[in-house]
Amino acid sequence: MNFQVEKLDGPFGAAITGLDLREPMDEQTHAAVNKVFVDNVVLCFRDQHLEEPKDFFEAGKQLGEPMKQVVATYRHPEFDDIEVLTNRQTDERTNNTKPMTRGGTWHTDHSNMEQPPKATMLYAIAIPDTGGDTQFINMYMAYDALSDDMKKQLEGKRAFHSYLSSRAPRKLLERTEEEKAVSDGTWQPLVRLHPETNRKSLYFNQMRIEHVDGMEHEEGFAFMDKLYAHTYNPEFQYSHQWRLGDVLIWDDRASLHQATSNYDQSQLRYMHRMMLIGEKPVLA
Ligand SMILES: [Fe+2]
Repeated sequence: MNFQVEKLDGPFGAAITGLDLREPMDEQTHAAVNKVFVDNVVLCFRDQHLEEPKDFFEAGKQLGEPMKQVVATYRHPEFDDIEVLTNRQTDERTNNTKPMTRGGTWHTDHSNMEQPPKATMLYAIAIPDTGGDTQFINMYMAYDALSDDMKKQLEGKRAFHSYLSSRAPRKLLERTEEEKAVSDGTWQPLVRLHPETNRKSLYFNQMRIEHVDGMEHEEGFAFMDKLYAHTYNPEFQYSHQWRLGDVLIWDDRASLHQATSNYDQSQLRYMHRMMLIGEKPVLA
């Protein structure tokens, strides 16, 4: 075990240097890396060389079990578990030729699945000179900062996550039949217990939530609006400024993330993405 850990520039998050993810990790290193990951929610491995998709895939496999990419359109042509994420993509299904910023509002990945991913990873192959950050909210911090009254109201509550909420702040692609078969939506706890840290975190996704347990439709949205306003607070946020060679992994069980589009779109931004299989969320 021979790597260095430093804090990232924000209220949470860590970076590891001195570790080459092309090399197999021994058990002790693996446990140490995983502890840095779960304790810090967002973890950056600096100076990686994983341009070959196979190398990125093998690196991801060291951190968990790869999950097939759900959206067929963006899958890597040779690797079902890798997605290509670039500002050169357009929305082919609607013939929209404008560049897209995918994931441009706060969300956690695939929360409408019974077993959403535990983590998502991105590897930066080309980045703009400035901007194009990926931003995060720490959902442990957001939970801890709730009033006692709000914590009480949330006890035992679940919300229904559909593919696309009728109040979603942006649109998603029309799904193919293959994609529809993945999930019809599911109830998820609003406060979940992390299986590794045993901490409570808020768990929701404004893109998908359609109902709150025990509430009328409108009442549920009003309740969620209060939670969104509390949570989307700069105090709980970290904004990752990419460096070439960064592999970023984040804990989807305890964070929200969003992409930004505040950069020169004539410059290429090109990343590979992987997800790692997670557990069914447990009510805290
Ligand atoms: Fe995402």
